[in-house]
Amino acid sequence: SPTSQITHRKTNLVRVALPLQVQEYLEPFHLSVEKLREVSARLRKDLVRGLGKHSHHKAPVKMLPTFVRATPDGTEKGDFLALDLGGTNFRVLHVRVVEEEQKVLKMDSQICAIPKEMMLGPGVQLFDHIAACLNDFLVSQNLKGQTLPLGFTFSFPCEQKEIDKSILIRWTKGFNCSGVEGEDVVKLLKEAIHRRGDYDIGSVAMVNDTVGTMMSCGYRDQSCEIGMIIGTGTNACYMEEIKNVRRVEGEDGRMCINTEWGGFGDDGCLKDIRTEFDVVVDETSINPGIHNFEKMISGMYLGEIVRLLLVRLTENKLLFEGRTSEALLTPDAFETKFMSEIEERDGGLENTQNILTELGLKWDSVDSRIVRLVCNAVSSRSARLCGAALATLANRIRVNRRLDHLKTTVGVDGTVYKKHPNFSEELRATVRLLAPDCDITFLVSEDGSGKGAAMVTAVAQRLAHQTLEIYCFFRVCTL
Ligand code: BGC
Repeated sequence: SPTSQITHRKTNLVRVALPLQVQEYLEPFHLSVEKLREVSARLRKDLVRGLGKHSHHKAPVKMLPTFVRATPDGTEKGDFLALDLGGTNFRVLHVRVVEEEQKVLKMDSQICAIPKEMMLGPGVQLFDHIAACLNDFLVSQNLKGQTLPLGFTFSFPCEQKEIDKSILIRWTKGFNCSGVEGEDVVKLLKEAIHRRGDYDIGSVAMVNDTVGTMMSCGYRDQSCEIGMIIGTGTNACYMEEIKNVRRVEGEDGRMCINTEWGGFGDDGCLKDIRTEFDVVVDETSINPGIHNFEKMISGMYLGEIVRLLLVRLTENKLLFEGRTSEALLTPDAFETKFMSEIEERDGGLENTQNILTELGLKWDSVDSRIVRLVCNAVSSRSARLCGAALATLANRIRVNRRLDHLKTTVGVDGTVYKKHPNFSEELRATVRLLAPDCDITFLVSEDGSGKGAAMVTAVAQRLAHQTLEIYCFFRVCTL
């Protein structure tokens, strides 16, 4: 029997007798520190390629300039609308920025469902839906008739031409609407609103969620210079020296760069660490070949990697006495949030058993322990890869400034980081190993996508008709 060949693997979850064959499947997920160092070195090179004047066109890590580099002066004020598209939910918000006190107050918000078909349908239909949701919100808030400025957190890779001109490079995560790639997203939104003709919006500012996150953390900690998202997708932005951003004129000061690190590996440079399960996840996704790094890390894909592993282990009679279930064989049926429940320190085993029963599987106690280890292998790899990527950014900032030691803060958001029981700890441990000369504080953002967008819009308004130079340190106050 497979359990006759056993080895003991000590994890922070359980001490379990692990069949050798199971271990063989999980081994490729355990990346050594040396391997993580190699990954970090490859990313370091890709950051430079992305920043280069001539090399950026073909660079897998896009390194997009955001034109964000100044601080609000405290005179920003007023009411703003914010849209947040590209995370777990689509949201519409009403935000008030209060002068002097520099407070950002979230007045109200509404979640609007986007049906899956719409995420894959014509772009015009998606933007009509967004315009309709905004209309419903304005009606419910009694705001129709006012022409409010709008901050649009659009969490996809965009080539930002101006604060209100942002060309979608490509869709990621679950979206693939036709007629949007290569187009100006602000124009598409405005056209949809004008097609309705029953309300209008004021000036628009486009923001990536990483940038909103960095900014919304800036008020608590003025050294917040990195924004990171580990949720449905993954990405980070950081403050780069302008002289290194070859596509942008200027020598002095810094600019926030949206790295789009999800695209790391799209040129094949992560081949050695991708497993057969990663290959299947990519090939069966709606955008094969795109965002390889993201597909090894973020919430949209982790559950599916686990499911594929469980199916394979079952087919090889290493789990559930070789019997799968309809649910287990259904793509995406094993949700990433199950991993958080399964890996919980207390109660995790019981959660595992409930989830397996829900999935129609007949389990015994060894099965449930193996399932926990599978989840742990997949989530640990994600945390460690993210840690390696973050260490690369921190090291870069330190070297840029010729410092022996860097003290900096990272603003973080995203369901995986916030909800998974050991993710943040493993990520931090990896950063400590790979960036020993950087002392990093992690700050969880409070709704950077909503309030950050409003703040960027507020500053954009003040600086209207000037080059937008924002790098916000402001106070956010939750109502
Ligand atoms: C997008 C990024 C975004 C990240 C996190 C990625 O798929 O390309 O723009 O910041 O997801 O939401």
